[in-house]
Amino acid sequence: MRALVDDDDSFPSTPGKTKIIDRGGSHHHRHRHSLVFPRHLLWTLLFLAFLASYLSLRSFLHTSSRYLSSSFATLSFDNRVRASAEPTRPDGLVVLVTGAAGFVGSHASLALAKRGDGIVGLDNFNSYYDPSLKKARRSLLSSQGIFVIEGDINDAKLLKRLFDLVSFTHVLHLAAQAGVRYAIQNPDSYVHSNVAGLVTLLEACKNANPQPAVVWASSSSVYGLNDEVPFSEVHRTDQPASLYAATKKTGEAITHVYNHIYGLSITGLRFFTVYGPWGRPDMAYFSFTRNILQKKPITVYRGKDHVDLARDFTYIDDIVKGCVAALDTAEKSTGIGGIKMGPAQYRIYNLGNTSPVTVPTLVSILENYLKVKAKKHVIEMPGNGDVPFTHANITLARVELGYKPKTNLEEGLKKFVKWYLSYYGYSSRKGRNW
Ligand SMILES: *[C@@H]1O[C@H](CO)[C@@H](O)[C@H](O)[C@H]1NC(C)=O
Repeated sequence: MRALVDDDDSFPSTPGKTKIIDRGGSHHHRHRHSLVFPRHLLWTLLFLAFLASYLSLRSFLHTSSRYLSSSFATLSFDNRVRASAEPTRPDGLVVLVTGAAGFVGSHASLALAKRGDGIVGLDNFNSYYDPSLKKARRSLLSSQGIFVIEGDINDAKLLKRLFDLVSFTHVLHLAAQAGVRYAIQNPDSYVHSNVAGLVTLLEACKNANPQPAVVWASSSSVYGLNDEVPFSEVHRTDQPASLYAATKKTGEAITHVYNHIYGLSITGLRFFTVYGPWGRPDMAYFSFTRNILQKKPITVYRGKDHVDLARDFTYIDDIVKGCVAALDTAEKSTGIGGIKMGPAQYRIYNLGNTSPVTVPTLVSILENYLKVKAKKHVIEMPGNGDVPFTHANITLARVELGYKPKTNLEEGLKKFVKWYLSYYGYSSRKGRNW
């Protein structure tokens, strides 16, 4: 199921690089005086012809790309949705994947499509981090026959249209406003995506006929200030330390309501620091890699009393296996016409790796693979939402989902670095501004 890792070579090493055409003026001036008029006329005509063809090509490309990206009202959109949703194996799942151009969403979509499930992707391509990375992931999905619609989970009309077009058996809901510290700058976006968007999506699921089973991404951050370790699903989660965590905890409560009132089958997955190829540029392992390569200093947070922060880093392929197992074991929703016909399944699982690694250890692994020494700037962690450590108890997921993470941080970061270098190159100029 290493969906993307082995596909590095199918990607250009410097995406978006454009060739600069030599406009080479100087040598054209040499014969000016001997052949002034005809030469001049010839060049003018050539230039005009070139300009005309350039302009018509540009307007053609412009209209066709607009046609492709926003043609929701045309038959071709409907056909693309239906084709993408068609499983290629008997009894294949039909899954709406939200956040399909995101990190986990793109990997999960590819893994499902690879085994013959039908996938329709939805993503709003927002600019929380470089949208060109999301577009590159979409191209990869598109090459596997997966259509990723540019649209928002808050768009109830669009969702209704999709559920009218396709009988989804499952929804894998991974769209979210991620990140802990960004909530200080933009609190509304967390409410918009993780609360309002979730409700709009669940409304569409509850109204759908048949109702899909819903598997969605919660977060290890719901453990907040809980200090019992390892974190278990029975521990308290009513002390969030960030707005992000609070909206994910809210999601667990909201999905419970839709399970209770409308009979939606719900599985919430608490992800623990997912990393790997095609990852999110806002995460520490990613920005450390970029800065180390650019010989820029990195900021390493440390807890009170000089205790190192630690994270239960979980490799993307392990998380994808957990998502797929959750989909495969989900029972059907019980509602018909928006009315509950019987009790429905409600589950919550930790998906972690059970071996927390400190941030300085993470940095030394990266230094080793990148063959560059990091310039570390160690400061005490500001109280902006990060928790000092995470550590998952994954017994429940192991017993009920057969979840068994296989990749340790050394192996996983090796694959990440290999991807990073193939995608951005060593100089990594494209990564500058996030
Ligand atoms: C992990 O959680 C299970 C219940 O899911 C519990 O029985 C077990 O004792 C926990 N393990 C530890 C080390 O806390």
